[in-house]
Amino acid sequence: MPLELTQGDIAAQDTDAIVTAANRELAGGGGVDGVIHRAAGPELLRAIRAIGGTPTGTAVITPAFGLSARGVRFVIHAVGPIWRGGQAGEAELLAGAYRRSLELAAEHGCRSVAFPAISTGVYGYPLDRAAGVALATAQAFLTDHPDLHVRFVLFDRGSLNVFRRALERLQG
Ligand code: APR
Repeated sequence: MPLELTQGDIAAQDTDAIVTAANRELAGGGGVDGVIHRAAGPELLRAIRAIGGTPTGTAVITPAFGLSARGVRFVIHAVGPIWRGGQAGEAELLAGAYRRSLELAAEHGCRSVAFPAISTGVYGYPLDRAAGVALATAQAFLTDHPDLHVRFVLFDRGSLNVFRRALERLQG
């Protein structure tokens, strides 16, 4: 199965591409974005500032700069939605952020990509719902791209278990 769940630090992965949870201004942030920027160095912030922004539900790609020492080639900056109760198109926007990230990885010849649980920190998206959207979107994409390896990196054991249960539900 080219879909893997693991517990760990997103910035410590050695996949061809690492995805960060960005904001639509591409202004740099805390959480996942903070650890990835610290690991990649200041050129990463300069690169996204040059792009300037991207709508919620989309993503942009840059070189991995300092992370390339570990074999990472790209950082994909995905913008998930802020949770507003579930009736504001959040699921479609979250799926869009994952789908566009996967497309960018495939377009750039990546064989592997690591994702955090986008929108489930500062943006407040309930973890079990976000896990369902993330996994369903990845599974659908992998049907057409069976050579891509997708890894979800969950920060703590509780989050990993939520993703495990969501994957079991999806695979029925
Ligand atoms: N590795 C993996 N996962 C992590 C790590 C880490 N080192 N650190 C935190 N997480 C988890 C959080 O527990 C959360 O479940 O990543 C998830 C995403 O959290 P955030 O980084 O807060 O991302 P998000 O909710 O999408 O909010 C994005 O936060 O940093 C700002 O600029 C960013 O405005 C944007 C917003």
